[in-house]
Amino acid sequence: MNKRKILVTSALPYANGSIHLGHLVEYIQTDIWVRFQKMRGHSVYYVCADDTHGTPIMLRAEKEGITPETLIVRVHEEHLGDFTGFHIQFDNYYSTHSPETRQFSEEIYSKLKDAGLIAVRGIEQLYDPVKQMFLPDRFVKGECPKCGAKDQYGDSCEVCGAAYAPTELKNPYSAISGAEPIKKSSEHYFFSLSDPRCSDFLRSWTREGDHLQPEAANKMREWLGEAGENKLSDWDISRDAPYFGFEIPDAPGKYFYVWLDAPIGYMGSFKNLCDSEHIPFDEFWQPQLLSNTKTELYHFIGKDILYFHALFWPAMLQNAGYRTPTKIFAHGFLTVNGEKMSKSRGTFITAASYLTQGLNPEWLRYYYAAKLNSTLEDIDLNLEDFVARVNSDLVGKFINIASRCAGFISKRFDGQLVDGARYQHLCSVVDERFAAWRPDQIEQAFEQREFSAAVRQIMKFADEANETIHELAPWEIAKDPQRIDELLSACSLGIQLFYLLSCYLKPILPETARRIEHFLNCEVLTWPSLKDDQPVSDLLLPAGHRINVYQHLMTRVDSKQVDALVAANIHSLAPSGAQADSPARHAQKQQHSVTPIADMISIADFSKIDLRVARIVSAEQVTGAEKLLKLTLDIGNEQRTVFAGIKAAYDPEQLQGRLTVMVANLAPRQMKFGLSQGMVLAAGGSSSGELFILSPDAGAQPGMRVK
Ligand code: 2FM
Ligand code: ZN
Repeated sequence: MNKRKILVTSALPYANGSIHLGHLVEYIQTDIWVRFQKMRGHSVYYVCADDTHGTPIMLRAEKEGITPETLIVRVHEEHLGDFTGFHIQFDNYYSTHSPETRQFSEEIYSKLKDAGLIAVRGIEQLYDPVKQMFLPDRFVKGECPKCGAKDQYGDSCEVCGAAYAPTELKNPYSAISGAEPIKKSSEHYFFSLSDPRCSDFLRSWTREGDHLQPEAANKMREWLGEAGENKLSDWDISRDAPYFGFEIPDAPGKYFYVWLDAPIGYMGSFKNLCDSEHIPFDEFWQPQLLSNTKTELYHFIGKDILYFHALFWPAMLQNAGYRTPTKIFAHGFLTVNGEKMSKSRGTFITAASYLTQGLNPEWLRYYYAAKLNSTLEDIDLNLEDFVARVNSDLVGKFINIASRCAGFISKRFDGQLVDGARYQHLCSVVDERFAAWRPDQIEQAFEQREFSAAVRQIMKFADEANETIHELAPWEIAKDPQRIDELLSACSLGIQLFYLLSCYLKPILPETARRIEHFLNCEVLTWPSLKDDQPVSDLLLPAGHRINVYQHLMTRVDSKQVDALVAANIHSLAPSGAQADSPARHAQKQQHSVTPIADMISIADFSKIDLRVARIVSAEQVTGAEKLLKLTLDIGNEQRTVFAGIKAAYDPEQLQGRLTVMVANLAPRQMKFGLSQGMVLAAGGSSSGELFILSPDAGAQPGMRVK
C-alpha cells in the first residue's frame, strides 16, 4: 500500500466560549476521518489550537478582572478537556498565542509586504470616546435603520435580517460603555486581494485542482466574479490598540487582525509538533518539496468560514511562497430538533454538560456519523431519534451480537473459538452468506467523508449477522448437550462477525473498540481490506483464537438522561432575546407576566457589583426627556450624576434628600442629555407602569457598601 503523508486541521475555536454540540460536528467528523486514515496505515497528523486573539477575548478577560493570557490558558484547559472527553485525538492542541504563530505571521506579512501586496490607507470607524477604542461591528448597538428594532448589532438586524454598516444604526451606542460612538479615522493595513496576482490566482485555484466541494466552488465563483470584474476588495488585516494579538512589525500600536493569524495557527501548531517529534515540517509546507513528498493538507471547516479558507488563506500562502491546501472540507450547521440551537429551549448544549450529565460521548459520535456526508447540508440532532437510533443500532444490533455469543464461549469452551476443519466450515459459511458483502464500499465511503453511507453499509452487515445468528439460535442449541460442537461453531461465527463490525466501527467508537480489543484479545483492531478476488473469510480472526471474558460494552440511552441534559442547558432569556421570540410566544409570556429567575451566579460574580448607599442631593426634570430625571447622588466621598428612568413614578421634590441604593461601578454611559455615572435600584418596571426605588433603613450613611 502507498503510505500517504497527511496533515489535517479542524477550525480553531475561539478562546472565549465553551465548546458546544455545534462545534462537535466538525471535531467528530475530522476525528473519524483521521482515525480511519491512521487505521489504514497512513501517516497522519491532526493539529488544532485555540484561536486566542481579538477584541472579544480582550474584553472578556477585562470583565473577569484577569489578563487575556490567564484567560486563554484556562480556556485552553477547558477546551482540551471537552475534546478529550469526546475522544477527539489531536496530535497537537496548541494556541495561536505562541512563538511559532507569531513568527509565521510576521514572516508571511513581510513576504506579502515585500511583494508589494500590503497597502496602508486611512479609514473612518466608530470609536468609543469613554472606553477609548475603535468598536468592532458587534460592539456597536442601536436601532435597526430598516425596521427600527432596538438594541440591534452594528452589522445586521436579528429582527428583520437587514445587513448594514454600523454607521447606519440610529441612536448608536457602544455595547461596552454605553457611550454614543463618534467617527474617527486611523491608518489600516490591507492585503491587496484585488491585485491580479491574488484575484487571477484565486480564480484558477477555486476552479481547477478539485480543492473545493462543488457547492463551495460555486459560491467562490459568485464572490470572485469573472476575470476583469474584480469583485474582491482588499482585506483589512490590522486593528488599532487596545487589541489582544500580535503587534505588526514596524507599526507601533497596530495589531494583526485575529483572522490573519488564525489560519497561520495551523502552521504554528504543526511546527510545534514537528519540533518535538522530529517531523520534517518543510515537507508539508514548501512547494518545491511537494513533487517528491506528495504530502497532503486538508482543512475541515464550517461553511460560514469558507471565505477565509478558500480565498484569503490560499492567496496569503501562495504569495508568501508556501504550499496551498490540497482540499477544504466544509460542513453544514447543526440544528437540534429541526431548529437553531436555543438557550431558552435548552438545546444550546455544551460539551461539558453532556459529559457531566453522564451521557456516553460515543452515542453522539455515532449519531453524527450516521447523519454526516460530504456536502454543506446542515445536520439535525433530533433528540428522540438520537435515543431510538443509538439503542437500536449500537446496542440492539451491534453489541448484542457479542453479548449473545460470548458467554457460551467463555463458560463452555474456555474462551477458545472454533479451529481445524470446523473453522474451515465456518469460513465457507461466511463466504457463502456474505458473498455480496463489499467492505471496499465502506472504505470508500469513509475516505469520501460519506459517513452516513458507511454507517448504512455497516448496519446492513450487522442486520445480516443478526439474522444468521437468529437462525442458528445458539441459546436453543445450548440446551442440548449433544450439540456442543454446533454451539461452538454458531458462537464462533457470531464473534467473528462481531470482530469485523468492530473494526469498521472503530473510527467512530474508539473507546468501545479499545475495550473490544481486550475482550477479543487482539492487540489492535486494524482496517480489514480485501483485494478484488479475496474471500471475506480472509479477514477473520485465526482458527482457535482465544478471547477474554465478555464485560458489558455499552448501555442503552435512557430518554430521561436526554431530558435532564436539556433541562440542565435551559437558560432564561436575556431581555433583548425576547425580540427574537415569535409573536405568539411573546404574547404568552406577557400574559403570565412572570419574569424567569436569571442564571445562577457565584458569590464572586455578585461581589463584582459595587452597590452603595446614596443620598439624592438633587433631582431635576430633563428638558426633552420623556422618562428621565437627573439625579445628583452623594456616595460619601464623591458625587455622581445619574439619569434615571423614574419620571413617571416620582416628582423631583419627593426625592430630594432621600437615601437610596446605586450601582457605583457600572460603566458610565454617554446619553443625549449628558454622561450617566451609575444606576439607582428600583423594583417594578416600565411595562407594569409601577416603579419603586429602594431605600435603606434609617441609620445607613451615604457611601456604605451594600452586600
Ligand atoms: O470561526 C471561528 O470560530 C474561528 N475561530 C475559526 C478559525 S479557523 C482558522 F482559521 F484558524
Ligand atoms: Zn431590522
